[in-house]
This record gives sequence, structure tokens and C-alpha cells, in this order.
Amino acid sequence: MKIAVAGAGYVGLVTGTCFAELGNDVTCVDIDEEKIAKLNNNIMPIYEPGLEELVFKNRKNKRLKFTTDLKSAIKDSEIIFICVGTPPKENGEADLSYVENAARAIAEAMDSYKVVVEKSTVPVKTGDKVAESIRNYNRHKCDFDVVSNPEFLREGSAVHDFMSPDRIVIGTESEKARQIMKELYSPLKAPIIFTDIKSAEIIKHASNSFLAAKISFINAIANICELAGADVERVAEGMGLDKRIGRSFLNAGIGYGGFCFPKDAEAFIRISEKLGYDFKLLKAAQEINKDQRKSFVKKINKALLDVKGRTIGVLGLSFKPNTDDIRFAPSVDIIMELQKEGAKIKAYDPKAMDKARQILKNIEYCNSPYDAAKNADALLIITEWDEFKQLDLKRIKSAVKRPLIIDGRNIYNPDDIKKHGFSYISIGRKDVD
Ligand code: UGA
Repeated sequence: MKIAVAGAGYVGLVTGTCFAELGNDVTCVDIDEEKIAKLNNNIMPIYEPGLEELVFKNRKNKRLKFTTDLKSAIKDSEIIFICVGTPPKENGEADLSYVENAARAIAEAMDSYKVVVEKSTVPVKTGDKVAESIRNYNRHKCDFDVVSNPEFLREGSAVHDFMSPDRIVIGTESEKARQIMKELYSPLKAPIIFTDIKSAEIIKHASNSFLAAKISFINAIANICELAGADVERVAEGMGLDKRIGRSFLNAGIGYGGFCFPKDAEAFIRISEKLGYDFKLLKAAQEINKDQRKSFVKKINKALLDVKGRTIGVLGLSFKPNTDDIRFAPSVDIIMELQKEGAKIKAYDPKAMDKARQILKNIEYCNSPYDAAKNADALLIITEWDEFKQLDLKRIKSAVKRPLIIDGRNIYNPDDIKKHGFSYISIGRKDVD
């Protein structure tokens, strides 16, 4: 099938590339000329495992193209995915101006029937607005259908998530569009939920918000465990074996970050408010999430008595492993707060240092975890990269000034780390000296 993807950001790039891999002819469009030029030279704007190889392969066999020419891409395609950004406005609502612009551009360029698919995360009823914009600017009076087909890709495993989804959600009121989408996704073996557009839009926000609330729930339990002297890892295990609960997304830590959960939860709170519902549960999840970062800084202060003038080694800057993304990452808030209080920061991340350099200043960026540990009064674990789980702890111990690890992701067993001669503070578990 012939597909155009408007927006070659994280979602558009992965979606377009994977559809090409499934045998479709895909044109990814972006207004950012530099990004398109780089992609046409096989230079990836993001780090995402497996993506580069697929882009390279599908460009070579001419199933995947990158261009800034939206008009031609629309004319040549039957299905158009809107994958543009929906960044948060100051009040937390999603900014839909890019979606609106894309809808207009599609309407002005189309000269035959098109299926216009919302892939970006959008507030409920955006489908109606997209349809209205297209109707208003539909020069050639062409037939079209709008579909909501939310993405559930996780950064760091997006290609895998696309190819092996738990479910595919297709919201549309049109039988024709439904059949086209069904055929498009037929190579993937996954249940397809067909529904109306509004329900599909809500499925996306409800899913992200539920997962965010699940994380905040376990973080609240972690705080209770600390006060009671219990172990949150065992509690999560005991809860998670109940099939109705499940173990995933019960990892206590410094909370959720990234460009999805924090902003989507905030947007869903605003959407609910506008509809007349006070989403107290989600508000609390967001509050707990913010508090986790603050209480981590408090733990550091307590352990060092005062962070002023101390050297703190930071392992991990990305908001989660296997990505270079630092948007809304806990590392940013934590480091900025420690710097404000006078600490000297040395940091290492396997992939995110280039992006971090643009935001986090006055940091000594290091070439290895061992460099970051050198002369540190405390070593922080902020992101649970596999590399940090395999550290040579003897080497770390001889590098640091004081053998103190403060782990925001619970990657070590407290008793093992004690055997290596470290003091160890983690989340929702006993501290070891
Ligand atoms: C999330 C969803 O998982 C995807 O399904 C969705 O498509 C995507 O948002 C989106 O809306 O685009 P992502 O933000 O890439 O994906 O990453 P997650 O793996 O969900 O992790 C989000 C945050 O939660 C990370 O900061 C992670 O460290 C944190 N987390 C996750 C925990 O603190 N504890 C856990 O148990 C799990």
C-alpha cells in the first residue's frame, strides 16, 4: 500500500520504517530540512535499537523515502498518517497546532480518496476537528475518512513493539477505512480492536495514565516500606504474581519521565476537567511522581549531610535505558537541584550525553562509569542501563572518595553490595552501611 507519514519524529520515523519493512511504499515527510537530509544519508536523529538497520535496508530497496515535499507525498498515497508533535502548552493541554496544520495541508493537496490516520497522542474529539479542517480546505472535494490509530511504542523497544504489538486499536466510523486499515495491519499477528474514533482516542490516554498511576502506586508503597522497614521489591513480586495485577510497571524508583507519561497524564487531567470531571486519581499520581524526585534529593542530602562542595557521580541521564532521550528525565530535575545546592556533578550515560550537553551545563561529562566515580563522595544510579548492572565494583570502590551508592532504580541487591564494602541507599528497601 502507498503510505505518507507526516512528521518524521520518533513516532513517525518508527511507524514509517516499520510499515516499509512490512512491504509498503512509505514516504516520511518533515519540515525540518536538516533532519531529512541526514535521514537521506542514513544518519538517525534518534537512538532507537534496530531502527538504523531497517531504515538503511528499506531505503536501499526503495520502499522508504524521506522528503520535505508533503504535497507530492499526499498525492501519491492512499493512507496518510499524522505523526506530528503534540507538545504541552503552559497550562498542560496538548498543543494541536501541528495536527491542525497537517490536516489543512492534507486537505489542500489531496486529489483522490484518502484515509487520514491520527497516530499522534491527541485529546478526545480531535478526530472531529481533523475531519472539519479537511472538509473546510478540501479543494477538490475528495472523499476521505478519518481514523484514530494510537501508537503504543515504548522508546528503546519501539521496533519490537511495532512488530509484535499486544493489540492494535482502530477507531473509525467508516467501513471502507476499516477494511483498508485491517489489510494494512494484516501481516501483524495481534488482536485488533475496532471502535469509534473517540473511544480509540481515550484508549491511548487511559492506557498511558493507567501505567503512570501504577508506577506512582508502587512508589507510594515504596515510601510505606521505607517507613515500616519492609522491602518493596518483595512486595511488588508478591503483588505481581496475582494475574489481575501483573508484575510489570511495578518497579519502584525515582518515577516516570520521558515525553509521554508526564505530559499525557497532565493533558488527560485537563481534558477531563474540560469535560466536567475532576480526575483526582491521576492528579495524585502526578504529585507522587514529582515527590519521588524531591525525596531522592533529600536522601542524597541526608547521606552527605550537606551536598555543598561535594562531588557527585551520576550514572545515567536518559529517562530510561536504551534511548538517548532526556526529555522530562528525572536526571534533569535531580542534577539541577543538586547543582543549585552547590554540588559538583560528574556524569556518564552510554547514549544520552550529547542531548544532555544541550540542557545540563557545568557538568563534567565522563567517558566511562569509572571516570564518573573518580573522587566522588557519592555515586548515583539514575537510569538502569544494563552496563551499570555489570560494573566492576572493585574498580568503582578504588575510584570513589567515599564508597556510597544511592540507587534510584534498585538495580543492586543490598546484601551483595554490602559485601563489596559500599554503603547503599535505594528506594523502598533497607539502607545498608
Ligand atoms: C510509554 C508507553 O509505555 C507506550 O506504550 C506509549 O506508546 C508511549 O509512552 C507513548 O505514549 O508514546 P515510554 O515513555 O517510551 O512509553 O516508556 P516506558 O517504558 O513506558 O517508561 C516510561 C517511564 O516510566 C520511564 O521513565 C520509566 O523509567 C518509568 N517506569 C516504568 C518506572 O519508573 N517503573 C516501571 O515499573 C516502569
